[in-house]
Amino acid sequence: MGFFITFEGIEGCGKTTQAKKLYEYLNMLGFKTHLTKEPGGTLIGSEIRRILLSQWEEKFPPIAELLLYEADRSIHINNVIKPLLQQDYIVVSDRFYDSTTAYQHYGRGIDYNFVDFLNKTVTEGLKPDITFLLDISVEEAFKRLDRKKDRIENESLDFHRKVREGFLIIAEKEKDRFIILDATKSPDDIFQEVLKALKERKVI
Ligand code: TMP
Repeated sequence: MGFFITFEGIEGCGKTTQAKKLYEYLNMLGFKTHLTKEPGGTLIGSEIRRILLSQWEEKFPPIAELLLYEADRSIHINNVIKPLLQQDYIVVSDRFYDSTTAYQHYGRGIDYNFVDFLNKTVTEGLKPDITFLLDISVEEAFKRLDRKKDRIENESLDFHRKVREGFLIIAEKEKDRFIILDATKSPDDIFQEVLKALKERKVI
C-alpha cells in the first residue's frame, strides 16, 4: 500500500502551492507520486467541479452541494486514489473529506452524523495517512484572492470563519493524523515543516 497525503484549509491559505511543491519534490527524489485534487481529480469530476463552482440563477440547496462533492469523491477514489495506492504510489490530494465536514457541516450546517455517514460510506474506510491543515485568518487569506470569486468563495466572511473553526475542531479530534501549519509564514518555511513531518514519519 502506498501513502496518502492531503492538504486542507480555507480559500487562499496556500495549500495548492504546498501540494504542488511536495509533488515536485517527491518526484525529484524518485518516488512514484501523483498530485490530485477534490473536486475535479477525474474527467467526470472536472464536470462536477464546474457545476459546483459556477454561479447559477437556480437554487443550489446545501444537500445537493453535499451529494455532488461526495459523487466527485466516489469517482475519484475508485478511478485514481485506490488504484494508485495499490501500486504503492504516494498520492497527494489538494482537499479530501475533511473539506466536506468543514464546509458542508460546519459551514452550511448540515447534520454532522449525516455528513460523517456519507464520508465514511463513500471512502469505504480510506483515510489520509497524514493531513496538513494550513491555518490562517479569513481576513488574511482573502487579501490573497485577487481573481474573480467562485460560488463558494463568494459566501460571507462569516461562512468562511465557521469553515476555518471547523477545520481546527476536526484537527483537534484527530491529532495523530493532522499537522497544523501557520499559513502566514513564507511558502518555503511552510514547505520545510511539511518535509520535517514526512521525515519524522519516515515517509521520505
Ligand atoms: P479549491 O478551490 O480549493 O480547489 O476547492 C474548491 C471549493 O470547493 C472550495 O471553495 C472548497 C469547496 N469544497 C467543499 O465545499 N466541500 C468539499 O468537500 C470540497 C472537496 C471542496
